[in-house]
This record gives sequence, structure tokens and C-alpha cells, in this order.
Amino acid sequence: MKFFLDTANIEEIKRVASLGLVDGVTTNPTIIAREGRDFEEVIKEICSIVDGPVSAEVIELTTEEMVKEARVLAGWAPNVVVKIPMTEAGLEAVNILSKEGIKTNVTLIFTVAQGLMAAKAGATYVSPFVGRLDDIGTDGLQLIRSLKVVLSNYNFKTEIITASVRSLEHVEEAAVVGADIVTIPGNLFPKLWGHPLTDKGIERFLEDWKKVPIKG
Ligand code: E4P
Repeated sequence: MKFFLDTANIEEIKRVASLGLVDGVTTNPTIIAREGRDFEEVIKEICSIVDGPVSAEVIELTTEEMVKEARVLAGWAPNVVVKIPMTEAGLEAVNILSKEGIKTNVTLIFTVAQGLMAAKAGATYVSPFVGRLDDIGTDGLQLIRSLKVVLSNYNFKTEIITASVRSLEHVEEAAVVGADIVTIPGNLFPKLWGHPLTDKGIERFLEDWKKVPIKG
């Protein structure tokens, strides 16, 4: 399973990248706005730290404008993946861009049908939003399970990025069902390697170590 970081915060990216755990990065307009920095500058900086795919989202809504914007974003670095919203215009843009060899990540996927449409249009990645589905009382992880089955049934190369991840359970369950990728917010990532019993265990071992007689 590949881990992406769902952040544009350079410190968070450097911290997790130093552990060898970052396969890519996803951003969206909200994540970029949080940093209070120039969009192009921050995407280029992330691309200089991370070798894997870095998603940068278009803000235009017509096919023509999305394609134009996507070509600019894709020119910023070889590993930029253009995030396109799941709309009819977006699907047309994905179709055009995939023929030009520009990688796309279709975002705001909430149904199996949307995921299937995006894959068929030529999306490199699809991003189903589990947390936002949970927020409205639906089982977000069920979408990952079903979409995985559907894309496998027809041998699509499109990879599933489990997005809108809020908990350790989301990450673990996405791995259980075989999602290709999970994109994890910077503040959630440390919870993946930590556990209170691990901390307690270390404490106890160090206390007990003090009782070990030292020769000389
Ligand atoms: C990533 O690709 C998505 O934009 C992100 O995971 C959305 O997360 P949110 O629902 O917590 O805003």
C-alpha cells in the first residue's frame, strides 16, 4: 500500500519523508489556503522533496479552462498530477489530458458510478472521500470496498486513493480492502506509528534496566 500525505505543510512532509513513508502528496484548495503561500511556489517545493506524485487541483470549471490550467500545472514539475473535480466537464478534461499523457486525479468521488466513470474516462487516480460520507451518516469505507471490486473486475489501471481520511480505522480498513493508496493528513500520520502501550512498555523496560547490575 502506498501512503500519500494530505498536506501542503513542508515541515509535516519533511518529517514523514525522513522515515521513508511518503510515496506522494495530495493537496486541494483548502489545504493550499491553510499554508498562506503562493500555490506554484508551494507545489514546486513539495515536488523537490517528494519523488512521487503530487496532486495540484484546478479551480476552473469548464473543460476548456480546466485543460488549459492542467497543462500549466503539469509543467511545474514532472511529478505533478492534476486534480480534476468529478463533473461532466471534468470527465471530458480527463479524457483529453489522458491522451496528452498528463496524469489526473479525479476528486470528490462519492459513488461507485462516479469512480467507474472517472476510470473509464482515463483517470490515473480516483479519490473517494470516506470521511465526508461518514459525516452524512453513510459508510465511507463501503465505497472503497465496492470501488475496489468494480475496478478489479474490469482490470482498470486507475488507482484508488482513499481520501478524506479522519482516523486510524480508515487507514487500516482501506489497507484491509486493498485500496492502492491512502492519503493521510499530517496530524493523523504520527498516530499510525504510536501506541500508549508502546510508550508504557519502553518506560517499564528503562525502569527495569536500572535494576540490572553493572560490573565494575
Ligand atoms: C484529498 O485528496 C482530499 O482533497 C482530502 O482528503 C479531503 O479531505 P477532507 O474531507 O478532510 O477535507
